[in-house]
Amino acid sequence: MKVRFAKPGLPKAGVLVVGVLEGRTLTAAARQADAKSGGALVRAMKHSRFEGKKDQTLTVMAPAGLGVGRLIALGLGKAAELDGARYETYGGRAVAEIQASGEKDGAIAVDTMPGAPLKPGPAAARAALGVRLRAWRFDKYRTTEKKEDKPAVKEVAILTAQPGPARKAFQPLGAVAEGVLLTRELASEPANVIYPESLATRARQLTRLGVKVQVLGEKAMARLGMNALLGVGQGSARESQLVVMRWLGAKAKNAKPVTVVGKGVTFDSGGISIKPSANMEDMKWDMGGAGVVIGLMRALAGRKAKVNVVGVIGLVENMPSGTAQRPGDVVRSASGKTIEVINTDAEGRLVLADALWYAQSRFKPAAVIDLATLTGAIMIALGAEHAGLFANDDSLADRLTGAGKRVGELLWRMPMGEAYDKLIKSDIADMKNVGDGRAGSITAAQFLGRFIGPGVPWAHLDIAGVTWSKADTALVPKGATAFGVRLLEDFLATHYEGK
Ligand code: BES
Ligand code: MN
Ligand code: ZN
Repeated sequence: MKVRFAKPGLPKAGVLVVGVLEGRTLTAAARQADAKSGGALVRAMKHSRFEGKKDQTLTVMAPAGLGVGRLIALGLGKAAELDGARYETYGGRAVAEIQASGEKDGAIAVDTMPGAPLKPGPAAARAALGVRLRAWRFDKYRTTEKKEDKPAVKEVAILTAQPGPARKAFQPLGAVAEGVLLTRELASEPANVIYPESLATRARQLTRLGVKVQVLGEKAMARLGMNALLGVGQGSARESQLVVMRWLGAKAKNAKPVTVVGKGVTFDSGGISIKPSANMEDMKWDMGGAGVVIGLMRALAGRKAKVNVVGVIGLVENMPSGTAQRPGDVVRSASGKTIEVINTDAEGRLVLADALWYAQSRFKPAAVIDLATLTGAIMIALGAEHAGLFANDDSLADRLTGAGKRVGELLWRMPMGEAYDKLIKSDIADMKNVGDGRAGSITAAQFLGRFIGPGVPWAHLDIAGVTWSKADTALVPKGATAFGVRLLEDFLATHYEGK
């Protein structure tokens, strides 16, 4: 789908979407459409419950005098709340309506109001971002879908008083959208397509954008003593991989990087501690954390961000077989710490233990942030509304929480501490990889915390509950969400860029 910016007016298009504010206050485009159609919009409003409240819609079919198949009024809510986020959801909802209409093209009028916080150009750019994020669809494997079920939209025009500034404001946002969509695609692909080597290949393609990508195979990891990660992959026919992606865009080339580490279990069967069959197919997106890191690097490189960021992802497939790791095995991690593997399904933390060690010992980062679909317990605690945030640094935790609020990817901080740490003591090794079942997300975080060096600011995002969604929202169609890409992009832009 093509998205372009154009001057306001009455386009020849299948669908025209105009904004209406709460209290039925028409925006300029809505007023114009109403006038040209002999008052059809105002008449329709009178006969409906449409008030212009946020996300309300009202469709006027085949209005006379407009040259469009349908005119859709979309509620913008209160004028005082017309910020960038509101324009994004407006764009997202609008394109969903256009896609559902069956028409080939649509126009979305983006008007600002006098005294509103956003200028027309940036407002239109944010709406376009909403369009990009919501219009995405993973349909490459659907060869027999009925034509009437397929969105037919070829082009969407964003109508704005400032097409030039809108285009310019969209440039960095477009890069962020590309990153998000890449992450969603990687998480959506099945595990016979995305496995450690093929995911590493996808990461390597970032080289084109100026990212330095390095891939370590099992031999190289064995030399480094990364037995915790390798143990998880040892039952799989696929070779485990560690991928390092470096984007060094800061003015000071040697500025300490922020290091982002991702869990990349391309399929988690549980291993010998095998999972039940029901919903096991979901475990194709157990590489969600790694997918976010790849999408984030793509976003940063795509907009040439002035920051130094290193992404490290540990890629493994967790399978049961004659060569698989057994419950009770003891592995020596690259840090030297030993782990008793009580449950082979608590594998993400084993992968991260070595990836976190690598990230710190090689890059001496200013901060380490990891993302992982780590525990089912975080879904019990927080559902799909928040990701779990664990941190050893309050300021880092607050900055991440703030970034999450700005982009609509919410975090909820969870406790950590000595009392929880005791739960992973082992009788025969330095630690075991599970606690006793209580506080499962916290004991997982305590486990990771043991691989963070003294004085290193660290945060862990448990994204198991937010990586895949069951229903459409304004900006995220159901399925892979890419939760974390926008959050970290905003976090880095706000606190590290240009510094
Ligand atoms: N990948 C899973 C966690 C998960 C579950 C993510 C459901 C998304 C949806 C993880 O590797 C896992 O299996 N965790 C276990 C840990 C347990 C064995 C201590 C869990 O949460 O049950
Ligand atoms: Mn598991
Ligand atoms: Zn897992």
